[in-house]
Amino acid sequence: MQAAVPAELFTPVGYARLLASPRGRAFHLHWMAHAEEADEGVFDELLAHVDAPDLHKLIQIHADDETRHARLLRECVARVGVVPEPVPDELLYVERLRRTAGADLESLFANGAASIMQIFAMLQVVEERGVSQFPLVERALRPVDPESAGVVAGIIRDERRHVQYARAISRRYAPDPATLELVLGLCREVEGQAFAENERAYLRFAVTHGLLAELGAAR
Ligand SMILES: [Fe+2]
Ligand SMILES: [Fe+2]
Repeated sequence: MQAAVPAELFTPVGYARLLASPRGRAFHLHWMAHAEEADEGVFDELLAHVDAPDLHKLIQIHADDETRHARLLRECVARVGVVPEPVPDELLYVERLRRTAGADLESLFANGAASIMQIFAMLQVVEERGVSQFPLVERALRPVDPESAGVVAGIIRDERRHVQYARAISRRYAPDPATLELVLGLCREVEGQAFAENERAYLRFAVTHGLLAELGAAR
């Protein structure tokens, strides 16, 4: 029987179907690992441009956290025991976000404090996306792979901390609260568009590559 094609993927039912299938689970954990380590050189540039020594330590902790998250997720992939398919270009979320924002690394730091505010506002929005999405992943993993669900739960705790620290730094570099709110609104708009486009591309990929399990008529 042909499996039903969902209208959306990043929903409780969509994640349940993706993560119940070993190939879908291996691919999604691999895709998450990819996104965790795809910093596009931003951390190195931040360390070079931020002049406050107390912030260097926080930025380095953040960079190390994301590297650790990628390693933990790759260990989860290995436990599935299925070699995931390579992540195609159209599913590279961070790359899509950069394209949607129209930002390149050279011009990213051209405006001094305002640039630092903008980068941390975007980091905050990206971390918030993790905080809203990863609990859905954790819940869908729980019945099929409790160990990986536990790993994702630990990552969520870190991502919540990243939201707080990004918010604190963008506030510190903002000329005034109204400007920061305006910038945050623009970042949310850009990220929302990139996320929605990524979801559609991912859904097409998952369907054509047979990554979705059929959960039965009741689901
Ligand atoms: Fe992370
Ligand atoms: Fe993070």
